Amino acid sequence: MKFLIINGPNLNMLGLREPDIYGKQDFHALEKFIRDTCVSEGIEAELFQSNHEGAIVDAIQAAYGKADGIVINPAAYTHTSIAILDALKAVRLPAVEVHLSDIAQRESFRHISYAGMACIKSFIGLGFEGYRQAILYLKEYLNNSEQQR
Ligand code: DQA
Repeated sequence: MKFLIINGPNLNMLGLREPDIYGKQDFHALEKFIRDTCVSEGIEAELFQSNHEGAIVDAIQAAYGKADGIVINPAAYTHTSIAILDALKAVRLPAVEVHLSDIAQRESFRHISYAGMACIKSFIGLGFEGYRQAILYLKEYLNNSEQQR
């Protein structure tokens, strides 16, 4: 089973960036957490981070026929990007949305999630743990859909 794990803009600034909201651990620690989770679940992981909307669209398109599922934290593009929503719909891979912070409890402009409209599930406000939950959920989902075939 292979997952593409996408992190959007400014997540590479974790640790430095608003630590009261996003925590003190840096992006390297997040990537290690994701890789370790995938290793212990027997999942092949491709990690991708970009600050550019089009690059994220390209990565989603490139996953078609290669990855079994996508875990995505589109960061600020969550609330603005119809292009990312359309890319997720185009490839029709099961996708799970993650946010470190609880976007529902923050500014009203963070309450809408376009990417989330193409996702089977969202984990919000759980910090790094949200990525682990997303990976486990996606693995379970794919195992179940495999059994139904
Ligand atoms: C975020 C929440 C977004 O609103 C914000 O723009 C981010 C990070 C999160 O993980 O909590 O960059 O996606």
